[in-house]
Amino acid sequence: MAQQDQFKNLIAHCKEYGFIFQSSEVYDGLSAVYDYGPYGVELKNNLKDYWWASMVQMHEDIVGLDSAIFMHPKTWKASGHVDAFNDPLIDNKDSNKRYRADVLVEEAMEKIQKKIDKEVKKAQKRFGDEFDQEQFVSTHPRVSRYTEEIASIRERLATSMSNNDMPALKQLIEDLDIADPESGTRNWTDVRQFNLMFSTQLGNIAGEEGKLYLRPETTQGIFVNFLNVQKTTRQKLPFGIAQIGKAFRNEIVARQFIFRMREFEQMEMQFFVRPGEEMKWYEYWKESRMKWHKALGHTDSELRFHDHDNLAHYANAAVDIEFQFPFGFKELEGIHSRTDFDLSRHQELSGRKLQYFDPEVNESYVPYVVETSIGADRMFLAAMTHALQEETVPDADGKESTRTVLKLHPAIAPVQVAVLPLLKNREELTKAARDVFDKLKFSFQCQYDEKDAIGRRYRRQDAIGTPYCITIDFETLDDHTVTIRERDSLKQERIHIDQIADIVRKRVGRESLLRR
Ligand code: GAP
Repeated sequence: MAQQDQFKNLIAHCKEYGFIFQSSEVYDGLSAVYDYGPYGVELKNNLKDYWWASMVQMHEDIVGLDSAIFMHPKTWKASGHVDAFNDPLIDNKDSNKRYRADVLVEEAMEKIQKKIDKEVKKAQKRFGDEFDQEQFVSTHPRVSRYTEEIASIRERLATSMSNNDMPALKQLIEDLDIADPESGTRNWTDVRQFNLMFSTQLGNIAGEEGKLYLRPETTQGIFVNFLNVQKTTRQKLPFGIAQIGKAFRNEIVARQFIFRMREFEQMEMQFFVRPGEEMKWYEYWKESRMKWHKALGHTDSELRFHDHDNLAHYANAAVDIEFQFPFGFKELEGIHSRTDFDLSRHQELSGRKLQYFDPEVNESYVPYVVETSIGADRMFLAAMTHALQEETVPDADGKESTRTVLKLHPAIAPVQVAVLPLLKNREELTKAARDVFDKLKFSFQCQYDEKDAIGRRYRRQDAIGTPYCITIDFETLDDHTVTIRERDSLKQERIHIDQIADIVRKRVGRESLLRR
C-alpha cells in the first residue's frame, strides 16, 4: 500500500473504531487538537503505564512527580523559552498560508532524496544481484550531484538557524525556487521568528505582569522541584524524576494527525548526575530507551537514532529516536544531555540555591542533567502504525478472506479479553458467558459482546487489537470448557474455564515487557 494510503487508512481506522476523534468535530473541528475515544484512551493509558512502570517502578533511583501546568512566568525566561522557543515562519502573499521556513527547505531536500531513491531503484532493477548500492551512490555522476546538493542545503539551513539569520533562510528558499504548494507562486514575505508558547492572563493582575504561559514542556516543573524531591526522598546522585503531563505549543505547521499537535502529552525524565559523568549516562539512556521501544515489538527497520545537526541552547549532546511513520522516519523521542543550564538559570533568576551536597566528594554543585523525552501521542501513532495490518486468512469454509487486524503487543491492547456467547438468543449461553465475564473483569480489561454472527465479532475484536476471544457454546454448559482464540495465530483451543485467567495473564501481563 502506498505510504499516503496507509496513513489515510490509519486515520480512518482510528475514527471508525473509536480510538481518536477530531476535537470539537460538531463545529468542524479545531486544527491539531484531538480527543481520544474509548479504545484510544485505554491504549494511551497502557502506553503511559508501561513508561511509568519502566521508569519509576523498575528504577529505585527514579521517583515520580505531577507538577502544575501553570508556572511562575520567570520560569520561561530562565529556561530560554521566552527568548528562543521560536520557529521561523513565512507567509505566501497569494494564498495567505503560513509555513515553517525550515520545513519548506527540508521538504525540498526530501524531493532531491526521492530522485536519488528513484535512480537507485532503476539501477537495482538493471543490475539485479550484482548491484552494489554503496558503490553506485558514490560513483554515479547524477546521484553524486544530488547528494552534494543535499549536503550543501543542509549546511546552509543549519548555519542560518544557529545564527538566527532569517534573511539567509529567505535567500535559501529563493535560491531553491520553492513555490507555495497551495498557490504555486513564489510571492513570499520575509522570514520571521514566531514564539510557540500559548499565553493567558492571571485574573487579578493586569498587563505583562499577569502574563502566564501554558507550559511548552513538562521538564521545567521537574527542575524547579529538584531540591524538594531530592530532600524529601533522600535520593543521592545519580537519580531521576519522571513526569507525565500535558504540554502546549502553538505549532505553525500542524499536520500529520497526532504527530504534531497544539495540545499534547509528554513523558519526560530528568536524570541528575555529577558534572563530567553526563556522557556515560547519556549513552546508558540511549540504549535503555531503544530497548524499551523494541520490547513492544518494534523492529530494527522501524527505529533508528538520529544525532541532532543543531544543538538546542541547553544541550551538549542530543539524539532522536526516529520511527518510520507512514510519512517517513521522524522524531519519536529525544535524549538530551542538558548540562547544568536549566538549574543554573533557575538559580540565577530565583536567587535560590539549587545545588546538591555530594557527601562522597564533600562538595556542593549544580548537577548535570540527562533527559529522556517522548510524546505519548507520538508513541500512540507509532504503536498504531506498527500494529495496523491487512492480511489474508483462511475462512471457515476453506476459502480466503482479508482481515484488518491490530497486532498490538498484548500488554498494551485496549481490550485484553473478549467474552462471546455463541448465540445471543439462548439465555443459557448468555448467562454462562456473563458468569465468565464477571469473573475475568476483576483481573483484565474485558468486553462482553453478543451482537452479530461470531465471525463478525471476531473481526471486530481483531480490528481493535484484542489478543484473546473466549467463546461460550453448548459444550461449555456440559463440561465447563470454552474456546480460546488467539488474535495473531488464529489458533483456537478448547480449555477449561478455570485455565482462562492463567493463559491470558501470561501474555497480557506487563512483566514480559519489563523483563526485556
Ligand atoms: N523537554 C524536551 C522537549 O520537550 P522536544 O524534542 O521539543 O523536547 C520532546 O519534545 C518530545 O515531545 C518529542 O520527541 C515528541 O515526541 C513530543 N512532541 C513535541 N512536540 C510535539 C507536538 N507538537 N505534538 C506531539 N508531540 C510532540
